[in-house]
Amino acid sequence: MTSPARVDWDELRVVARDAMSRAYAPYSGYPVGVAALVDDGRIISGCNVENASYGLGLCAECGLVSQLQNTGGGRLTHFTCVDGQGDILVPCGRCRQLLYEFGGPDMLLQTPEGVLPLSEMLPQAFGPEHLTK
Ligand code: THU
Repeated sequence: MTSPARVDWDELRVVARDAMSRAYAPYSGYPVGVAALVDDGRIISGCNVENASYGLGLCAECGLVSQLQNTGGGRLTHFTCVDGQGDILVPCGRCRQLLYEFGGPDMLLQTPEGVLPLSEMLPQAFGPEHLTK
């Protein structure tokens, strides 16, 4: 487990910007890149991938959770999202739910208002724990 104090947010943002540079966003013209630290120390990333059938477009976070699972699983501990300028962006509501599944309430996000736990970005979240009650 990487301790929060030692997390290199700048490095995470570099990885997110790199992913953003590979986004496929011809319809919105709004590329997005994300990166996250996993509890075993690996860094994963994703970019948005849109579709001619507009509603089928995939947010960058979809690619990230797919990579998480396909490279061995684990828990997300730290997450960042950037826009086409490379500036910090908040994840959309649906993607907060995607992140909750693998990061839970304590996952830390970089936001324009500072680093916050997911519990503050998705209060009273519905999650896997509800299904086991
Ligand atoms: N987008 C993401 O990839 N992640 C987010 O959290 C916010 C929105 C994408 C979806 C779409 O391709 C573009 O940004 C404009 O909404």
